Amino acid sequence: MNVRSLPVPRKILFVCLGNICRSPAAEGVLRHIVASEGYPGEWEIDSAGTGRYHIGDLPDQRMRIHARRRGYDLTHRCRQVTRADFSRFDLIIPMDASNEADLRRMASTLEEEARIVPMASFVDMAIRCDHIPDPYYEGAEGFEKVLDLLENGCWNLYRKLTDAGQQQ
Ligand code: 4NP
Repeated sequence: MNVRSLPVPRKILFVCLGNICRSPAAEGVLRHIVASEGYPGEWEIDSAGTGRYHIGDLPDQRMRIHARRRGYDLTHRCRQVTRADFSRFDLIIPMDASNEADLRRMASTLEEEARIVPMASFVDMAIRCDHIPDPYYEGAEGFEKVLDLLENGCWNLYRKLTDAGQQQ
């Protein structure tokens, strides 16, 4: 997927396992960036989980608290990723290799599979990881690390996508 050629509105889905920690946080961070930089109407941003443990729930309270301290209000309601998401979204961003493998199994064409781009591929900070680690069984530092990685990755994603607009 050449993310620079994404059409406007840019339709982006973040995916993790539970859809209560990492992916709703990524959704909140990118929404915040887009709102602060202008033109939120040019974006459609959502998140979903490969699992179905928490459907209808707000994000994990620990993630909501850590995110709130950085200015992000996480109000997403948990839902499971569906086949329809592959036609609705242009970019589908898994948090780790397990989410990615599950999404690849769901894709029915190479074109759909090409929409899957791992979150870690957008992260370039010093503590660079090959995935966004699941914080569910971690302490406060696990949630902070996830937010550090997501802020870095979302800013890079935002710049990549909007630079393309300026070049056209
Ligand atoms: P997430 O974290 O995938 O970042 O939302 C998890 C949340 C809940 C569970 C696993 C991971 N769980 O097993 O309930």
